[in-house]
Amino acid sequence: MAQDPFRYVLYEVRERAAWITVSRPERLNALDRQTVTEIAAAVDLAVADDRVAVLVLTGAGEKAFVAGADIAEMSAMSPAEAQEFSRFLHRALDRIERCPKPVVAAVNGFALGGGCELAMACHVRIASETARFGQPEVNLGLIPGAGGTQRLQRIVGRGRALDLILTGDMVSAPEALTLGLVTRVVAPEALAAETASLASKIAAKGPRALALALEAVLAGGEIAQEEALRLESSLFGLCFASEDMREGTRAFLEKRKPAFTGR
Ligand code: HXC
Repeated sequence: MAQDPFRYVLYEVRERAAWITVSRPERLNALDRQTVTEIAAAVDLAVADDRVAVLVLTGAGEKAFVAGADIAEMSAMSPAEAQEFSRFLHRALDRIERCPKPVVAAVNGFALGGGCELAMACHVRIASETARFGQPEVNLGLIPGAGGTQRLQRIVGRGRALDLILTGDMVSAPEALTLGLVTRVVAPEALAAETASLASKIAAKGPRALALALEAVLAGGEIAQEEALRLESSLFGLCFASEDMREGTRAFLEKRKPAFTGR
């Protein structure tokens, strides 16, 4: 059932996946405040929606995923407003990263600046062969301000992150794959179908296990390893309180497919 309460974002649920499509094609889907607010609201909608197991974030049209923050809107900001805009984007992107349901970025074109940062807040990144990635902020006299100075180095390593951030260079999808910035690259015409099939594969797993795995990896990645391993053990233990764990192990032993309920 389609639902469309937004101006710059399309929200549609298909086969247990909420497709959130940033749609400002005349601005290459650039992020102004309104668009960011709507993306965050769409994520909240998907988290609360029982029909939804997985979120997909993508851009409308063939040219851009998101070409960055809206440069026209940003150019008029005072230093204090720019700082607040950066914090505002941090809050929105943190919400995506901390979402208890897996979020897949289907990168269909330019993912630059805030667009690359948005993709990096997602849990899995799949790209079309024509996608291009970069943190071109230095070309504008800026630095990445929506998490790019931090998430990029955590994903690709500090040396590669600094190369991208200091040169402002764009990389192709195959290069992004080599860097580990994306994990799958497909033909442009196959992106929607491959994303849908990836989303259904994830959606078939137990939702509690998915949420606990996300928490172990993401929360664990922010703390010292010893503490993170303790967190892993307690979340591992929590799995054993779920019906899904009983069902998953029983189904294996009975040589059948599990029917997870999320309990
Ligand atoms: C506002 C944008 C835009 C953006 C494109 N447009 N990107 N408007 N903000 N980020 C607009 C163009 O002005 C143009 O409007 C229309 O979209 C089409 O873009 P063109 O430039 O004509 O297309 P093309 O020549 O094909 O070039 C594509 C492009 C280029 C390489 C992606 O548009 C580009 O370099 N865009 C900016 C990318 C960028 O620097 N992003 C980082 C922003 S800073 P008109 O009206 O002329 O048709 C950032 C900081 C995040 O993201 C942190 C914040 C806290």
